Formats: sequence, structure tokens, C-alpha cells
Amino acid sequence: MTLNMVIGAQWGDEGKGRVVDLLAAEADFVARYSGGDNAGHTVTVGEQTFKLHLIPSGVIQPHTVGLLGNGMVINPIVLLEEMEKLRQAGVVINPERVRISYAAHVITPGHLALDKAREMARGDEKIGTTQRGIGPAYNDKTARGGIRMETVLSQETFADAIEANIEKVNRQLTSLYGTPPLDAHAVAQEYAGYARTLAPYVGDVSGMLAEALESDQSVLAEGAQGTLLDLDHGTYPFVTSSTPTAPGVLVGLGVGVGKVGRVLGVTKAFQTRVGEGPFPTEVFGDAAIRLRGTGENPWDEFGTTTGRPRRVGWLDGVLLRYAARVNGLTELVITKLDILSALDPLRICTGYRVNGDRLENLPLGPSDLSPFEPVYEELPGWEEDIMGVQAWENLPPQARAYIQRIEELVGLPVNLISVGPERDQIVQR
Ligand code: IMP
Repeated sequence: MTLNMVIGAQWGDEGKGRVVDLLAAEADFVARYSGGDNAGHTVTVGEQTFKLHLIPSGVIQPHTVGLLGNGMVINPIVLLEEMEKLRQAGVVINPERVRISYAAHVITPGHLALDKAREMARGDEKIGTTQRGIGPAYNDKTARGGIRMETVLSQETFADAIEANIEKVNRQLTSLYGTPPLDAHAVAQEYAGYARTLAPYVGDVSGMLAEALESDQSVLAEGAQGTLLDLDHGTYPFVTSSTPTAPGVLVGLGVGVGKVGRVLGVTKAFQTRVGEGPFPTEVFGDAAIRLRGTGENPWDEFGTTTGRPRRVGWLDGVLLRYAARVNGLTELVITKLDILSALDPLRICTGYRVNGDRLENLPLGPSDLSPFEPVYEELPGWEEDIMGVQAWENLPPQARAYIQRIEELVGLPVNLISVGPERDQIVQR
């Protein structure tokens, strides 16, 4: 059957987890294809709030199988902790329900230490990474010196590989960054234990998906991070080290191009970003607090993984059009529309101005956005609380007009709109 994709259309944190949770109701497999525990997906079901970093949020639906694809980088400690937390919350986690690609890469304590040391060394030019060892693990992968998950199938081989990795990292930590070395032998011994626990979960994800797609089963790819954090197509160098865009699904799961169905681009009704880098429509002061929240609610704009306050701003239509293009999106999902209630007027960036000229699209991608000044269009806001609305017709006319303007600007339909954090706070058109 088909492979549908849920892709972040902004700088991550778009609310993909809850969209995946909804669509997973009709999927047999839900698969993560890129990134690692730099991601944080939140799903609220009744009284329970699940925060997932590695396991696809689709596993909260009891009939699905969760897959961790070859494009991922996996910290074994975080994975085991997450498995345990999910079990305690009543989610069944066993090797029938969760499979890890043999070709996914392992994040070691050495990668974590290097991520921190490199950020410190960058000083004012830091990227603002999540310090989860993501960049260094992908560096090892592309330099052909990484440790793949298949290594856990032999405890001894895994321990040797970890020890060699830490020794290699120690040379960099001490000579380049003046940081104390890690105890390679102790880390290797500790990791040998994780190998035993994880070995039954390792398998051929690409092969499983090929079989599933040949039969009548459906697969949902769960994006992490977002288009503007893509290593090639994002705001380089302020990006992550993987490919969160739609083509990354195929590479990161080992699936061919022929089976792709819906490509849903998830965007908030406004714009957020965590970490450094350009953000043309950013707002500050009271307006920022209004969009970000104060941190009292779990859905306020504070990072799920790092707790950092997110930078916030108006929706950027230029960047959203760009995301539609590089992903080949077939539709948009808009989240957090409720946050715009009682804000009047609303603003959308429809173009950029540079040297007196108006641009509708980016001449050279989004890596250098500094010359551009956003051109805003103002739209009337609405007063009503819309968190209880479930039908399109019941949204205030101004809210419908806001959504319709986004559809026009991007040239894509909006079929799902979330109006609150709960599973049923969603308007399906
Ligand atoms: P890294 O992925 O930890 O290397 O971080 C690189 C950049 O991506 C930083 O600006 C992070 O804040 C950002 N980033 C990584 N993962 C996420 C995410 O899941 N949501 C939002 N930003 C992220």
C-alpha cells in the first residue's frame, strides 16, 4: 500500500507528534527516519501526556509497530529509559512492537562530550545544539567510522567498538579542547549490558517495509526536526546533521520512491525556533510572551528536550512556500491556531524586501536571511476561545479567513487544524 509522511515544515516543534498519533490510527507501521533524541514529541491522551524522543509517537496507538530507521542516530541509554517509561504508562513495548534498523548509528558518551566541547569552542558562533551528540555521531557515520546498531548483536564486539570510539574521542577532547578524557573501559563495560537488552529489537527495517508495502499494509513516516533544520536545505550552518525533509524518508528507511502517498507538511499558525540562527519574522517583548506562553502549560513554547524558551514570531509565508517546494508537500496541517485567539491584528509575512525590491521566493535558499526584511499582511483576529471547536463551519470567520489566506499563499489545501493539545482538539475538513 502507501507510504504517507508527516514532515515538519518549519524549524521543528510544529506539533508533528499529535498529527502522527491521529494518522497512526490507520497505519500498520510508524517509522522514524532521521535524527535522534534531539527530537521531542508530545502526545496528550486524556490524563496522560507522553513525551517521546526516539520511539515513534505512533506506538501509543496499540495496533501499530514502531520502527527506528537506518537514518537515525540512537543513544542506547535514552532508548532504554524511554522504553521503560512507556511500559510504566501501559504501552506494550517488546521486539514485536518496536524494531530498530541494523544500520542505524549509535550515539556514545564520546559523541555527547564532543558535542558539548565543540559548542563551547564555537563561542559566540555556537549553533545552539541540543547537546545530545547528534552532530558527532553523524560525523562518524559519514567518515565511515561509526558504530551501527547491528554491532549490539555481539556484546563483545559492541564493547570493543565503544572502547575504541571513546579512545578516539579522548584524543580529540584532550588535545583539541583541553577537556578531561572519559574512562573508555568503564563505558565499554556499561554498554555491553545495553547490547544484551537491545539485541532482540534489531532487524531489517527496510526489508520489513518492503514486505509491508507489497501487501496491503500502510506505513506512516514520522518526521523529526523540520525542513529549515535540514542539513542541505535548511538555514545552514544553523541546522541539524540529518535530512528531516521528505526525501530523507526514503533514504532513512531504505524504501524506494514508488509508494509515496500523502506528504503532509505540519506548520504552526505562527513561527518558532529554538537555538541560534536567522529568523526574519521574530518578535520580542510582550508580543513574544503572548505567543510563547509563560511555561506554566506543557504546550507553552519551551523545548521538550532541553526546556529552553523558544524564539517566536509571525508565520513566514516565504519559508512555508519553500518548504512546500523542497518536500513536495501535498497538503498542510496547521497546529496551535488557538494560540492566536484574542490577538488583533494578525500578521503573515507574504514576501521579503531587499534593497527596495520585493521578493516572493528565496534567490539562494534560506542559509543567509540577514538581508531580507519581511513584508507583512495584516488580517483581522478573533476574540473567541476556539479550543472546543471541532467543525470547520464553527471556527470564527476570521480564523477561517486566516487559514484560507495560508492556503492561497502556499498553494496547498489545509485539511487538519489543531486547536488544543488534546487528541480530539482537531478540526478535520
Ligand atoms: P542538534 O540537532 O542537537 O545538533 O542541534 C542543531 C540545531 O537544531 C539546534 O538549533 C537545535 O536547537 C535544533 N534542533 C534539533 N532538534 C530539534 C527539534 O526537535 N526541535 C527544534 N529544534 C531542534
